Amino acid sequence: MKELILYYSRAAENYFRGSLKYIEKGNTEVVAEKLALLNGGTLFQVDPVTPYSDDYNTCIEQAKKDLRSDARPAVKVVPQNVEQYDFVTVMFPNYWGTMPMHMFTVLEQMNFEGKTVRAICTHEGSGMGKSESDLNKLCKGADIKKGLAIQGSSVGHCDDLLKKWNENTK
Ligand SMILES: Cc1cc2nc3c(=O)[nH]c(=O)nc-3n(C[C@H](O)[C@H](O)[C@H](O)COP(=O)(O)O)c2cc1C
Repeated sequence: MKELILYYSRAAENYFRGSLKYIEKGNTEVVAEKLALLNGGTLFQVDPVTPYSDDYNTCIEQAKKDLRSDARPAVKVVPQNVEQYDFVTVMFPNYWGTMPMHMFTVLEQMNFEGKTVRAICTHEGSGMGKSESDLNKLCKGADIKKGLAIQGSSVGHCDDLLKKWNENTK
């Protein structure tokens, strides 16, 4: 089974259990790399043309503005030849209750007909939010499995949870 791991992640200042901290690798990316080791999937990072600020407070305002205006912020590349994969795992941080709008930009341009789609969301308290219902709208024709929510500040020790979910959704 060939897997595409499509993920958005931001390595910069972020909020961890009540305080701000600068991280070199985003939480979602940490989990994406763990998943790639489990199934040998292909990693594809969504790369914004204009990334959100490294400053946390600026970033949350930028993301809020994009959500409110239902924006489709530009990304550098959208995955091509998705037909070669049996399933696509979509991974993202929870931004204001759903996926970052860059994910909407990408998913809208892909063809999910006949594909199995799985979602993993990292978050700081709100779980998957409404991301699963948004995925249902965006990934038309896909068989969407139950998603996995992982707290961002716990990604260092999510291995057992991830393995179990991976086995149950393949
Ligand atoms: C712009 C922004 C909005 C966020 N909104 C939420 C939210 O609504 N609910 C939540 O639980 N966490 C929220 N978070 C926390 C992130 O979802 C969490 O830290 C995530 O693990 C970050 O993943 P990353 O390091 O891969 O970018 C937000 C973080 C940012 C930067």
